[in-house]
Amino acid sequence: MDNDTPMLVLGIETTCDETAAAVVERRSDGSGRILSNIVRSQTEEHAPFGGVVPEIAARAHVDVLDGLIASAMKEAGVGFAQLSAVAAAAGPGLIGGVIVGLTTAKAIAMVHDTPLIAVNHLEGHALTPRLSGTLAFPYCLFLASGGHTQIVAVLGVGKYVRLGTTVDDAMGEAFDKVAKMLGLPYPGGPQVERAAATGDAKRFAFPRPMLGRADANFSLSGLKTAVRTEAGRLAPLEAQDINDLCAGFQAAVLDSTADRLSVGLRLFHEQFGPPSALVAAGGVAANQAIGAALQEVAARAQTTLIVPPPELCTDNGAMIAWAGAERLALDMIDSMEASPRARWGLDENAVAPPGFANTRAAY
Ligand code: KG4
Ligand code: ZN
Repeated sequence: MDNDTPMLVLGIETTCDETAAAVVERRSDGSGRILSNIVRSQTEEHAPFGGVVPEIAARAHVDVLDGLIASAMKEAGVGFAQLSAVAAAAGPGLIGGVIVGLTTAKAIAMVHDTPLIAVNHLEGHALTPRLSGTLAFPYCLFLASGGHTQIVAVLGVGKYVRLGTTVDDAMGEAFDKVAKMLGLPYPGGPQVERAAATGDAKRFAFPRPMLGRADANFSLSGLKTAVRTEAGRLAPLEAQDINDLCAGFQAAVLDSTADRLSVGLRLFHEQFGPPSALVAAGGVAANQAIGAALQEVAARAQTTLIVPPPELCTDNGAMIAWAGAERLALDMIDSMEASPRARWGLDENAVAPPGFANTRAAY
């Protein structure tokens, strides 16, 4: 492809409970610009069930995706004929939704004779900071969302080495489960953060999982159980109890995260030299308290922290369009045979740590 012409890529995201479409431009100097980025959250559909129901999610994606794509194209002022490529998240995620997004992208690619790019959703999160600012490889990524908790060395487009992962619950999942057990509405992460802001983090002595271990893995289910036990002991819960439990839980997550990341950064340094930055991505990166803790970790490791704006941390179409553009620039195009994948690791050669049992996630 002509490297001087700006690329225009449509991105489609349907792996979980957000239906999203965006158009992103990538210029020949590697800089990016979002022309439209429309996210329709399914929170209302899933809230009565306290979590994402896969069948409801898939149906909701079918209902709104075509309209969302039309709106994203209109807002961007771009016609299908002008697209350089269409990118869809082909996994990992809930397979019904992934099929909806990928099939739609294939149809657009076929009808308008434009390249298809099947993007790994995690790669979308991983490359987002290069869309919102200048950032050179290699960098250290802390990815924490509802389905994933990983420390990844991002060496280049398509080149990832996983340095640490959770051996049980994902971090966002732990926030959501704690919220649920305390009677806070779904999705729980922002609710727990809000409650924690007025709580006493010292009232409960919750465990700091994995502290001091030589590897860079996470574990969150023991901490979650400790919160459940304490909540059961105190029931019925007063508002202050809930705030204190949230503050105690969040403080434990922060301490554990800081410790795990300092090990992750050390491993990064040993294997790849100094990272250009520590990048936080995924829904949990929207948590301000975690951001503050990461700032200290980065400073101690003599690197800078980059956190994309909150709307680019949580799932969106721009991150898929951007990963598609980065791939297109390297001629990494997919065929119509590209398969939807429920599980799809960023680092395909990675070996699962002992006891790995992440329920929702593919890693
Ligand atoms: O990246 P994301 O939008 O979707 C997934 O790929 O999972 O992340 C959603 C997750 C949810 O578990 C949500 O509770 C969590 O991110 N989250 C937060 C916050 N905002 C979203 N967790 C803690 N604090 C927050 N402020
Ligand atoms: Zn995500």
